[in-house]
Amino acid sequence: MTAIGAAIGAIRTELGHSQEDLATLSGLSPNTIAGLERGRGTITSLDKVLRATGYRLKHHYDAAMSLGQHVATRRAMSQEKVSLQTLAQLTGKSKPTLMNVEKDRGRIESLASALTALGQPIAFVKAAPEWLAEAEAPVKPRSSIRRVIEGDCLSIMETLDPGSIDLVLTSPPYNAGKEYEKRLTRQGYEDFAREWTCHLPGLLSDKGAVWLNLGYMLDGRKLHPLEYIYHPIMEELGFHLVQPITWSFRGGMTYRRRFAHRTERLLWWVRDLDNYEFRLDHVRDLCERVTADKRSNPLGNNPTDLWPVKRVAGGPAAGPDKVHPCQMPVPIASRIIETSTRVGATVLDPFAGSGTTAVAAHEMGRGYIMIEQEKRYIRKMKDRLAKIEAQHDPSMAINTPVEKETDCADQGTR
Ligand SMILES: C[S@@+](CC[C@H](N)C(=O)[O-])C[C@H]1O[C@@H](n2cnc3c(N)ncnc32)[C@H](O)[C@@H]1O
Repeated sequence: MTAIGAAIGAIRTELGHSQEDLATLSGLSPNTIAGLERGRGTITSLDKVLRATGYRLKHHYDAAMSLGQHVATRRAMSQEKVSLQTLAQLTGKSKPTLMNVEKDRGRIESLASALTALGQPIAFVKAAPEWLAEAEAPVKPRSSIRRVIEGDCLSIMETLDPGSIDLVLTSPPYNAGKEYEKRLTRQGYEDFAREWTCHLPGLLSDKGAVWLNLGYMLDGRKLHPLEYIYHPIMEELGFHLVQPITWSFRGGMTYRRRFAHRTERLLWWVRDLDNYEFRLDHVRDLCERVTADKRSNPLGNNPTDLWPVKRVAGGPAAGPDKVHPCQMPVPIASRIIETSTRVGATVLDPFAGSGTTAVAAHEMGRGYIMIEQEKRYIRKMKDRLAKIEAQHDPSMAINTPVEKETDCADQGTR
């Protein structure tokens, strides 16, 4: 008997049902129930049994997501973003098999292997009535908004629909002398920060959030942490800081006159501190040490405001995934998206670079609007997105068309 089979048997016993009773309740045959209890059967049958009995997979918090979408999301959120290829190696299953699992097709053995490889215990718990109600509601479709716009975000943001964005997640230029930057004075940078952020209040939906990934700029020998610059500007715009998060990493440049910097800030802003999304259960820390400790919340720990996540290394250590000089790791973007939005939401990144925000948003069923002014990064972003779109459905390897700033201006407000 497998873990998943045993868990289904345990639910049935707890409810005092025979295999025949459970078959009637779930609309399956007694043979199918017997098969599931031996660890054999389809994901669809498992889903029917869970719905009929009011149980859910222990860490499947998002009722709007199917079991397959849950696997895809956990994969995107894992510390070192597990690719399908890596998951195939970890489970010994083929990539097409795992792609099917993520679309709720295929067998429960494959689902169980994928979950185990992603550190998800195979256990079922009684679902709360609200969870069941949400699961019964028409499934919020994955968003089909996929826009990549080439041009200056200052003018493009004016053309987007008011209230149409649920999350702005971005790393603005740091004025740190990168190849895509023109050097600005501190005052010049402050003016730029005001110019682009002034569009945010109008674009955000009621519970919308803004997450800014910020480092610091050097002005000669003077160092200015960017959060000091953005904090008063965002407050003037009516935003409240929910929390600054520290992203810590290893490796990077060192200094002679200062400590080497190994952290960046993620500032989380909302407009209404009484009404914003914080989906803690979806982002709990599930590492083994946590789940083994009996004093811990069995759902996993609050991940705290210190997020150690490997950076996307450059230089000699660069891997094939490194395509932008300041690339955000996908697990950071995934955790933020899962914290602040639901499936179907729309995420905007006005300084999209290589499109990390879009990669995470797409994998998690959210729509995206990416704005980037440099052609070379638009090309890289397109390549990355084409790859993940093809991974999800090879027959649909969509080539997201790149819109130009001038197209947006022609369309006026959309
Ligand atoms: C810090 S990088 C973002 C990197 C991105 N988070 C990633 O993971 O690849 C900032 C990006 O903003 C772009 N950029 C700078 N000013 C811009 C503007 N006014 N409009 C649109 N893009 C801009 C730069 O070309 C650069 O690619």
